[in-house]
Amino acid sequence: MDFDIKKIRNDFQILSQQVYGKPLVYFDNAATTQKPQCVIDKITEFYQKYNANVHRGVHFMSAKCTEANENARNIVKNFINANHSHEIIFTHGTTESINLVASSFGDRFITKDDEIIISELEHHSNIVPWQLLCERKQAKIKVLPFNDKGELIIENLETLISKKTKLITLNHVSNSLGTINPIKKIIELAHSHNIPVFIDGAQGVQHQEVDVKELDCDFYAFSGHKIFAPTGTGVLYGKEKWLEQMPPYQGGGDMIDIVTFENTTYNELPFKFEAGTPNYVGNIAFGKALEYVNSIGIENIAKHEKELLDYGTKKISQIENLTIYGNAKNKTSVISFLINGIHPYDAGMILDKLGIAVRTGHHCTQPVMDHFNIPGTVRASFAFYNTTEEIDILYEGLLKVVKMFNS
Ligand code: ALA
Repeated sequence: MDFDIKKIRNDFQILSQQVYGKPLVYFDNAATTQKPQCVIDKITEFYQKYNANVHRGVHFMSAKCTEANENARNIVKNFINANHSHEIIFTHGTTESINLVASSFGDRFITKDDEIIISELEHHSNIVPWQLLCERKQAKIKVLPFNDKGELIIENLETLISKKTKLITLNHVSNSLGTINPIKKIIELAHSHNIPVFIDGAQGVQHQEVDVKELDCDFYAFSGHKIFAPTGTGVLYGKEKWLEQMPPYQGGGDMIDIVTFENTTYNELPFKFEAGTPNYVGNIAFGKALEYVNSIGIENIAKHEKELLDYGTKKISQIENLTIYGNAKNKTSVISFLINGIHPYDAGMILDKLGIAVRTGHHCTQPVMDHFNIPGTVRASFAFYNTTEEIDILYEGLLKVVKMFNS
């Protein structure tokens, strides 16, 4: 398909509104993305016509929702090229996917004095669940550092690996700096030591093609809401061989086979990990969002976003005393920056009044901010529906911020 930005923006009504009497410029896509009309329509359709709980009913509507939920699982499976749809566990988002593995894989495979390697670039959600696990098991975390460009120093990985290393976990893309990590290389190295690898793909899948078979990662997690799907949806992909060996994460309906007071046996994959009523309408709309992404083409998305990143980097670098944090060679469309002497919250508040939505603060990556010895940044993150004209508005807005502080 041709990349028709006008047509694309018509799919996202929210983008054409005004805030404070100014046209909205939405540059907070790394926090959450907007939803195309077809996703919103899918939610409405299912609540208006078919809503009934999945997997439990024999009636028409239950069967309809069950079928659509499983169809969505299949769409996810194809989207990331997994071997089996039972390797796709629906969760509430990346955070839950990470907690699931930390709890279940952790219970089964981590014991006292074991080591887990994480990177210094991680979001808190890929740090704290492992810390909780290590506290429980008296295991240890080791950290792979990054350089001042925001690139992981992967030459250090070999020296961090020991006989006690049981897992390496890192993000595909840094949410605060935009760095695309060389995950294939890391997975190959880890596997040469028989160490499984967990990839936090929350900022990965929406920007580039992800093929879990080709990557050969053991786990890959991502959130629906960051890829144009509803909030409260997410995925854990896990290789069958791991998921089969891992105990259930939560107990409840659907995850069981036979329950007696003496003994309970568990359902097969993927249901073993999906206790309780799932967010089936969300999952169905998630499937629709991925079909929408496919209809535009992830390679077209990547190309347009690269143009935005290059244009945006060049443009805002013209502003005096502005420092961009995260200058990795491989980056997604995230620009984190500070203007000397101006607190990120102040800059963000002024931009907001100009209709420009950016994120300010530590972006749930305090260790990244500590690395640079800064309290936080202003972060503009672009999606494929953004335009260079909007970047010009950001640029003009930043000039106003500077002017206000200088006067
Ligand atoms: N993790 C989300 C972000 O980076 C909320 O903004």
